[in-house]
Amino acid sequence: MTSFTSHSADLAGPTAFPWLADGLAYGGDYSPEQWPEEVWADDVALMQRAGVNLVNLGVFSWGLLEVADGEFDWGWLDRIMDLLHDGGIGVNLATPTAAPPTWLLQAHPEIATVDADGRRTAQGGRLAWSPSSATFRRYALRLVRAMAERYGDHPALRMWHVSNELGNENARCYGEETAAAWREWLTSRYGEVAAMNDAWGSAFWGHRYTSFAQVEPPRHNRTQHNPGLLLDFERFTSDALLGHYLAERAVLREVTPAIPVTTNFMVQANPGVADYGRWAEEVDLVANDHYTIGADPHREADLAFCADRSRGMAGGRPWLLIEHSTAAVNWQPVNRAKAPGEMARNTLAHIARGADGAMFFQWRQSTAGSEQFHSAMVPHAGADSQVYRDVVALGATLQSLAPVVGSRVERAQVAMLFDHEAAAAWASGPKPSSLVTAVDLPRAVHRALTELGIAVDVLRPGDALDGYRALVVPTLFLATDATADAVRDFAESGGHVLVTYLSGIVDETNRVRPGGYPGAFRDLLGVRVDEFFPLFAGDTVALDDGTTGSQWTERVEIADGTEVLARLADGDLAGTPAVTRRSAGAGSATYLATRLDHDGLVALVRAFAAHAGVTAVAAVDGPGMEVVRRVHDDGRSFLFAINHAASDRTVAATGRDLTDGTATEGRLGVPAGAVRVIEEDPR
Ligand code: GLA
Repeated sequence: MTSFTSHSADLAGPTAFPWLADGLAYGGDYSPEQWPEEVWADDVALMQRAGVNLVNLGVFSWGLLEVADGEFDWGWLDRIMDLLHDGGIGVNLATPTAAPPTWLLQAHPEIATVDADGRRTAQGGRLAWSPSSATFRRYALRLVRAMAERYGDHPALRMWHVSNELGNENARCYGEETAAAWREWLTSRYGEVAAMNDAWGSAFWGHRYTSFAQVEPPRHNRTQHNPGLLLDFERFTSDALLGHYLAERAVLREVTPAIPVTTNFMVQANPGVADYGRWAEEVDLVANDHYTIGADPHREADLAFCADRSRGMAGGRPWLLIEHSTAAVNWQPVNRAKAPGEMARNTLAHIARGADGAMFFQWRQSTAGSEQFHSAMVPHAGADSQVYRDVVALGATLQSLAPVVGSRVERAQVAMLFDHEAAAAWASGPKPSSLVTAVDLPRAVHRALTELGIAVDVLRPGDALDGYRALVVPTLFLATDATADAVRDFAESGGHVLVTYLSGIVDETNRVRPGGYPGAFRDLLGVRVDEFFPLFAGDTVALDDGTTGSQWTERVEIADGTEVLARLADGDLAGTPAVTRRSAGAGSATYLATRLDHDGLVALVRAFAAHAGVTAVAAVDGPGMEVVRRVHDDGRSFLFAINHAASDRTVAATGRDLTDGTATEGRLGVPAGAVRVIEEDPR
């Protein structure tokens, strides 16, 4: 029987990462190699003024450290490591393998990635290497060993930052060396070629393989590749990149066993190439990069969703926001600066959602190079600038939040399943609608719950579901039998489940589950869909409860005992069920068959939460307020209230403001755009 238990039962285990910093970690990527050494002392002084206590150092500096094959110039790095240490600033030292030096690319052009059209990546960028290149690996590990031996005992060293955003510019290589590694991966996954043929359904177009040697990476083709093959290629690619991380980590562990190791994730990428849920098991600290998209009117909702995903990957333990931006980036069509207060709201939203530190790309804005117009903590204008003043003010705020360090976000009453493989499966090959993305509905449901002040833990299939009252399964396209069983068991033992369209359609081989959609959840939900009716862009459909759908409809039949909560009121499917519910053991199973708009989703999750007995973190009085609670094992708790709205709001809170000590009792006013962090009186 699933029963809701209070958060305090789940707070044992490792929490803080005290090796990083005193208090919350604060800082950014630091590239002193781009500046004359006279600037360095100024940098350290400005860092101290801002409360910076940690930098990511040397991220792209391979070509300046190994100046020719086997010839090292450590002098400048020695000097800056010492200077930072003397200044009280810790170093998250990067193995600079993200950017191979020109001499290496020229001597070994075969290390570079090859795209699906057969084009080899040229020199002049970064991450030009294939994780399957044995030559690259050899050079990279020699450098990593040399660095570990040189700096392993340096007092400034806090952590190893392996490479940078593995799989960003070097995702999916299609070259010959990769092809050989891919065949090995398939051999070890399937053992027999017949098993692979069966999994992929390779009878389609008569593609049957008679040996693994016949398989190629999914290179350019005028038609579409097999979705089973494509999904496996994504798995292989994630494993190949993780394999590189593990190879570097093995050297670091051997030489510096006491120094933690991580690499920066890109959880936001959709679907991305790395299965970070699996990678998270291999890092000592989950570290994520997040960049708001300026043109997204709900960018704070994307931030909240990605932060909750990062926390889920960290198993609820504190994690590190290792990169975000103070202001504009340089890679969006229009690079919008942040509005007044937005940088602080962004930072504190990550902290609220479990980060124990916040760092930026980068410390000092480059004047040259392809990122010369990317914002930084010290902009081109210098320290006499709004951005730097905001950075200093934020540093002071973070110092006052030191008591938060090591606490965990209070366990949510609602869990949501989000899965990299399911997203990758949806992205593989032609699908019924290209308007639907794997991340759209999960993020929209997360936003609707957030607007009601309801916390969500974003988990992977396979994570334990005990203790939650409700579970959301939004567009989880791929579901294994084990996932289907876990969701059913959750409901039957008293939990309340909300499953949406396009969930459980394929199994782990990316084959459709026959007999009517959504195959994995059909019986639990008491619904059967025999045909999809996706909508064109801009088209909408009315529901008879006054809400509106778009993107997706489908012909739903219900089983005996399934109740219809809303029907489509117009369109080809007028009169068919759009929202249904049935009892399932001691719990219930709700189904949503269209993409409700924001108001519709808020109404739906409000009713669902009420049915499940889910309560808000703290009562808010209007949209735009984000409320999150962090708690310590000893019961001390902190309420973060972030007002994204253009008008003032209030939230139920009693305690003391951590930044200025002001007492509050009953209701706390949060001005438009402001953030308050309250150390709560014992509840
Ligand atoms: C990523 C990289 C950084 C930098 C930023 C720019 O996060 O890790 O090196 O390129 O993007 O936004």
